[in-house]
Formats: sequence, structure tokens, C-alpha cells
Amino acid sequence: MILRAEHLAKSYATSAGPLQVLDDIDLTMDAGEIVSVVGSSGCGKSTLLNILGTLDEPDAGELSIDGKTVSALTDAQLSQLRSRTIGFVFQFHHLLPEFTVLENLMIPQMIAACEQEASRERAADLLRKVGLENRGHHHPNSISGGERQRVAVLRALVNRPKLVLADEPTGNLDSENSRILMNMIQELVHDEGRSFLIVTHSETIAENCDRKFLLTSGELKVM
Ligand SMILES: Nc1ncnc2c1ncn2[C@@H]1O[C@H](COP(=O)(O)OP(=O)(O)O)[C@@H](O)[C@H]1O
Ligand SMILES: [Mg+2]
Repeated sequence: MILRAEHLAKSYATSAGPLQVLDDIDLTMDAGEIVSVVGSSGCGKSTLLNILGTLDEPDAGELSIDGKTVSALTDAQLSQLRSRTIGFVFQFHHLLPEFTVLENLMIPQMIAACEQEASRERAADLLRKVGLENRGHHHPNSISGGERQRVAVLRALVNRPKLVLADEPTGNLDSENSRILMNMIQELVHDEGRSFLIVTHSETIAENCDRKFLLTSGELKVM
């Protein structure tokens, strides 16, 4: 089991009083699964993803990632978990504009102390796998939006994290590019045995996942 969340709760303080966003979240994920969470805008999808990715803390409940209880980890252990075990994909790709596509895929590997040539090979290999081998020397602003999101998914996978969390990665793509991105996610995730949690408001994306949940009233309902 790569992820286990039990009774997670989270509220925000607002001028109108506390806003209970997550109430009682239970979720487990196994290796190799693609799980989707759908829900309307403002229902708490990003809040949930940030907590599962250890970027934010729940008010209550327990979270384990890869067998480790997150609340028991030191800051150093937590940042190690984040950099080695978890990959993130955001709605807006967050690629580094001054570096090429290939470099954007090499940098996270070199930060993780991977040697330069091996990093380049892994990056080129991933680009080849998804048919973007001739985009490696482009800068992010000279490829299409769909290609940028595909590169952002590759970047999340490049260090072979066990768990990838994606927050509306198709949010600003048309349906054709969403479909291409989703196919790519399915192939790579199953190929490399990762677990992928995708938060989306696209029913089409959700339909193509192994399991599907609706986030509503602070709880996850199986769909
Ligand atoms: N830091 C914050 N302070 C107060 N309210 C917040 C904060 N972050 C998010 N919210 C509110 O919590 C709710 C859930 O937000 P979010 O998780 O971003 O929803 P989603 O990603 O599903 O659109 C929204 O009503 C949002 O306005
Ligand atoms: Mg959101």
C-alpha cells in the first residue's frame, strides 16, 4: 500500500468563521493504481492533494505514505519523503522557462544526485516514449500547451517516485489534448508501476482511471 489516509479533516479560518473543507477523508491506494477524485470547484480538491502530498498538515486524522506515518517524521525525513517518494503535477506546468525541455527533465534528477549523463539518458528516454524526442531542445514557451503538460507529467515521473499527485493537469487543455495526456499517464504509470492520484473536474478523465471518487461535503464517495 503506497498511501493510507484515515479520518483526515481540515478547516480554514475565514472572516465568516471556520470553513470545514475536509471532514472525514478515508483513502487507500495500492501500487500501480490510477485513482481519480472529481468534485466541483471549491470543494477541497487542492486542499486534499496538498495534505496527501505533505505540503500542508491536516487538523485531524492520520496519513501514511509508503508505510511511514507522516506526522511522526522529522522535517528532514519529510523533505526526503517528498523528494524521493512523491511527484507533483500542477494545472500550470511550472516548467523552468529559461531551460530546455530536456534540461527541465534533467534538473530534478541532478538535484537527487543522479549523474549528468544518466540524467540525460533517462530524460531522452522518457521523451522518446511519448513521442516528444524532437522537443528536447525547445524551451517550454516554444512548445504547445498540451506538450508542456506532457513534459510536466514526465518531470513528475523522472525520479521514479512511487506516488504521483496531479492537481487538474488537464485543466486548461482541450479535450483532444486531455485525451493524449491521459493515455500517456496510463501507459507510463502502468509501465513503470507507479501510483497516480489525479484530481480533475473532467468526467472523461475520471472515467479512464482504475477507481473514481467524488469529493463532496468533505468526504470521498466511491463512484
Ligand atoms: N488558505 C485558505 N484560507 C481560507 N480558505 C481557503 C484557503 N484555501 C482554500 N480555501 C477555501 O477552501 C475551499 C476549498 O478550496 P480548494 O481546496 O482550493 O478547492 P478546489 O481545489 O476543489 O477548487 C474553497 O472554498 C476555498 O476558497
Ligand atoms: Mg484546486
